[in-house]
Amino acid sequence: MRMRLDRFCIVPVLIASLLSACKKQEPPSGASDPAPSKFTQEQLAAKFPNDLGPSTVDVSAYPQKIQEEYKDFISVCGSCHATARPLNAPYKTAYDWGRFVHRMHIKIENKGAVLDDELGKRIVDFLVYDSKVRKIGREKEFQAEQEKLKALYAEVAKEQERLVLKDTLESPKKETPYVGVK
Ligand code: HEC
Repeated sequence: MRMRLDRFCIVPVLIASLLSACKKQEPPSGASDPAPSKFTQEQLAAKFPNDLGPSTVDVSAYPQKIQEEYKDFISVCGSCHATARPLNAPYKTAYDWGRFVHRMHIKIENKGAVLDDELGKRIVDFLVYDSKVRKIGREKEFQAEQEKLKALYAEVAKEQERLVLKDTLESPKKETPYVGVK
C-alpha cells in the first residue's frame, strides 16, 4: 500500500517536470508573435499626439533664408524626438517658440551638446514663420489635423498600455533599463 502511494505522487511530479523542461525549449513568447500591433514602432513610441503627425514641411515656397533655417531646425530638433513634435504643436508666437527653444536648449546642454544663441534664433525664426503660414494662415486645416492626431493618439495610447500589460504578464521578471525621458 505504501509503495503504491509513493508511485502516485512521483508519477505526476515526473510528468510535470518533463513538461516544464519541454516548455523551456520554446522560443521566448513575443518573438514568434506574427502581428503584435496594427501600429508601427514609430507610432508606438509616441509620447504626444503631435509625434504622430508629419515630420517634415514643404518649404519650397518659403523665402530662401527660412529654407536655410529649416535645415538647422531639422538637424537640431530631430535629435531627441521626431521633428513632428514641434511641427504639429499648437504653439505659434515668437514668445512661445522662444520659451520652448530655451527649454530644449537646457536639455541639449545636459546632453553635452551646444545650441548657441545664434542657432537658437534661427530656429525660432523658422518656427514662427512656419506657424504663421500653416497654423495661422491655414488655421481650419491645422485644427482639423490636430483633432485627428488627438483621436489617433488615444488609440495608440490604448495599444501602448495593452503591450506593456502583455509584456509584464509574459515576462514578469524582465526589467527595462532606464534611459531617461525622450
Ligand atoms: C536633448 C534632447 C532634445 C532636443 C535636442 C530637443 N528636444 Fe524637444 N523635447 C525633449 C523632451 C525630453 C521633451 C518632453 C519633455 C518636455 O516637454 O520637456 C521634449 C518636448 C518638446 C515639445 C513638447 C512640449 C509640450 O509640452 O508641448 C516641443 C514643442 C519641443 N520639444 C520642441 C523642440 C524644439 C523646437 C527643439 C529644437 C530646438 C527640440 N525640441 C529639441 C528633448 C529634446
